[in-house]
Amino acid sequence: AAAPPAVGALLAWYDRHRRVLPWRAPPGARGDPYAVWLSEIMLQQTTVKAVVPYFLRFTAAFPTVRDLAAADLDAVLRLWAGLGYYARARNLHACARAVVERHGGVFPDNEAALRALPGIGDYTAKAVAAIAFDAPVVPVDGNVERVMTRLHAVAEALPAAKPRVKALAAALMPAPRPGDVAQALMDLGATICTPKAPACVLCPWAEPCAARRRGDPETFPRKAPK
Ligand code: ADE
Repeated sequence: AAAPPAVGALLAWYDRHRRVLPWRAPPGARGDPYAVWLSEIMLQQTTVKAVVPYFLRFTAAFPTVRDLAAADLDAVLRLWAGLGYYARARNLHACARAVVERHGGVFPDNEAALRALPGIGDYTAKAVAAIAFDAPVVPVDGNVERVMTRLHAVAEALPAAKPRVKALAAALMPAPRPGDVAQALMDLGATICTPKAPACVLCPWAEPCAARRRGDPETFPRKAPK
């Protein structure tokens, strides 16, 4: 396999073009674990644009994980109404209570302990560990999958290629500022390395990108026929 590309160019791009979002800390600073966790749960199956007003109302009503844990489930579900996938809201409440009961109201700082909490899977555990605690891990969502399969022109189709894609993402570490690397990959996938008509001329990874060199970035990720 090719050597992993320098994350330096990616971080320099992020410092210039990062999206300013209410759960994000300034570049180089760690996010508040509660805000990072809440945003990652809300962003599952929901766009950034739709999530922002919900996130602001939610954090106004429940400024800390303790406030959320102490709330009635009904109050949580009322603030969630419209976001859909209501199992997320029930898990959210259960997770807040578990953080209070198991960890004294302080989010654990490592992937394994995060993964043990209700509603936190592999992706969310890595996202919170990286963004809130600068753990050297790379969360892989659909956007990051697209970036990594294009960068390496992964021929194997998803979902079979998932372990390979995760390994390619993990190989970006160790690197400086793991939380910003994770968010830079998310922003790159959302704004430059888009499913259709990717803006390769603006991409900090245009030079090392194998799919761009081949001339067919849109054909990645390959998908198994349904
Ligand atoms: N999508 C999922 N997590 C995100 C984050 N932290 N920032 C922007 N988009 C995201």
